[in-house]
Amino acid sequence: MKVFAIFSICLAIAAALPLNEEVGPEHIPEPYGEDGSELIPEPYGEDGAELVPEPYGEDGPEHIPEPYGEDGSELIPEPYGEDGSELIPEPYGEDGPEHIPEPYGEDGSELIPEPYGEDGSELIPEPYGEDGSELIPEPYGEDGSELIPEPYGEDGSELIPEPYKKAALEEQGYESNWQLVPDGDGRLHLVNTDPFNLGSQDEPAPLFNADTDVIFTLFTRNNRNSGHRITPGNAGTLGPHWNGGRQTRFVIHGWNNNGGSEVNVLIRNAYLDRADINVIIVDWGVGAQNPNYVTSRNHINAVGLTVARFIDFLNQSGGLAFNNVYVTGHSLGGHTAGIVGKRVTRGRLNTVVALDPALPLFSINDPANRVAPGDANYVEVIHTNGGLLGFDLPIGLADFYPNGGRSQPGCGVDLAGTCAHGRAFQFFAESVRTAQSGFNSIRCGNYDQILNNNCVSSGANARMGGEPSNIGRGVNGVFFLTTNANSPFARG
Ligand SMILES: *[C@@H]1O[C@H](CO)[C@@H](O)[C@H](O)[C@H]1NC(C)=O
Repeated sequence: MKVFAIFSICLAIAAALPLNEEVGPEHIPEPYGEDGSELIPEPYGEDGAELVPEPYGEDGPEHIPEPYGEDGSELIPEPYGEDGSELIPEPYGEDGPEHIPEPYGEDGSELIPEPYGEDGSELIPEPYGEDGSELIPEPYGEDGSELIPEPYGEDGSELIPEPYKKAALEEQGYESNWQLVPDGDGRLHLVNTDPFNLGSQDEPAPLFNADTDVIFTLFTRNNRNSGHRITPGNAGTLGPHWNGGRQTRFVIHGWNNNGGSEVNVLIRNAYLDRADINVIIVDWGVGAQNPNYVTSRNHINAVGLTVARFIDFLNQSGGLAFNNVYVTGHSLGGHTAGIVGKRVTRGRLNTVVALDPALPLFSINDPANRVAPGDANYVEVIHTNGGLLGFDLPIGLADFYPNGGRSQPGCGVDLAGTCAHGRAFQFFAESVRTAQSGFNSIRCGNYDQILNNNCVSSGANARMGGEPSNIGRGVNGVFFLTTNANSPFARG
C-alpha cells in the first residue's frame, strides 16, 4: 500500500507541475496590477500624500516617516496610525464585513481591488478578475480547467486535496474520498475527506468540547520548563508568573499534535531566548489527535473561539493589552490563529502569523473560515509546502514564499511534504531568536512571479517573521527569499 501511495503522490505532483509553466504576466492577480511598481501603493488611494503610506516606498526603512516609525511604537497597531481614524484604513475593522474593502481607499471603486467585496458573492472571485472567468483563480490562468489548481476547482470536489487522492486506494476497495494525509509529525493517515459520505469510516470521533478541553499553559523565563496552566475565566489561576504588562505570544499547533509537539517547543524557546515575555501554548490535542483529519479540521472554529474568549478574559482580568498580543499557529493552527483574530471582542490582535496554513479542506473562497488579511492589524503567512499540505495562494496581508514556497532545500524527495511543511515553524523560530530577523525578502510584483520563479523587485524589501513582527512598517504583498538547506536557515 505504501508503494501505491507514493506512486500516486508522484503522479499528483507531476500533474501539478505544468501550472508553473503555463501562467504568464497577463494572469497577474489584480490586487498587484500587472504593469509595475506604481500600482503597488494603489490599495491606499492615489489622491493624496496622506493616503499613500510612505512605508511602501522603495527608498528603504530610513525613509519611512511616521506613523510607521520603529521607535517601539511598532507594537501599537501602527500600520493604521495611532492618532486618527482618517489614517486607519480599517481594512477589516471591527464593525463588520461591510468595512472590509476600506484598505483600498474609500474614494473610488477603481481603487478597490475588491478581493473581499461588499456582498456575499463578490467576496469570492474578485481578486482574480472581473469577467466571467472570475471564479477561476487567476494566478493559474483563465483559459482552461487544467490550469486550475485542483483544490480550487469549480465543482464539488474542489476542496479535496488532490495530491492525496489515491487511485491505489480505490484499487484496494477504498472509496475515492479516502486519502492519505500526513500529520504534523510526518505520519501518514488514511482519512475521509468527504464529511457527507463517511462510507466505511471506522469509528465515531471522540467527544471534544473546546471550552473544557483546550489547555492554556503559560511559560516565562521564570518557568521556562514548567508551564503554568491558566483556567479560562478564573483570574485566581493566573499564577505568580503572569505579567499582564508584558508582550504575550500564543502558539497553536496543528493536526495530531499537542502542547508538547516540536512546533510549540521550538517557538516557545525562541521567544524566551529573545525576551522575557508571556508565551502561552494552546493545547487542543484532544481535538487535534484524531485519525480523521476532517474531524480535526472541523474543530478549529470552536478552538479559535475558545482562544478568543481567553484573550478577552486576559484583557478584562489580567491587564493584557491587545496591542501586545500575537497569535501564531502552524498548519490547522495557522487558520485557527486567524479565527482567533476574527472572534476576539474587546480589541484587535496586533499580529497573526500563519505558518504554512493547511490546504486540505480550506478554500480561497471562504475567508471567514480561514486565516485572512483582516484577522489582526498585521497578518503574515509563511508558505513552505504550498499546494500540498500548505495553502499556496496569498491569504495574508504579507505572504512570504521561502524558496518559492512549495518545496524546501534540505528536505530531499519529501513526497508527503512533511519536511517542507515543518520548515515554516523552523524558519519562524529562528527568525524570532535574534533582534533582527535574517530572513530578508524581496517584494515581488505579484504571485505569478513567485510561481514562475522570476520575482521582480517591486517595493521595499521586508524581513520574514521576526520579533517584533513587521507591524508598523507598512509591509504587504508577496515576498520571495532563499534559505540555507540546514539550520541556521537565514542568509541575511
Ligand atoms: C484591554 O485592551 C484594550 C485594548 O488594547 C486596552 O486599551 C485596555 O487597557 C485593556 N484592558 C485592560 C484591563 O488592560
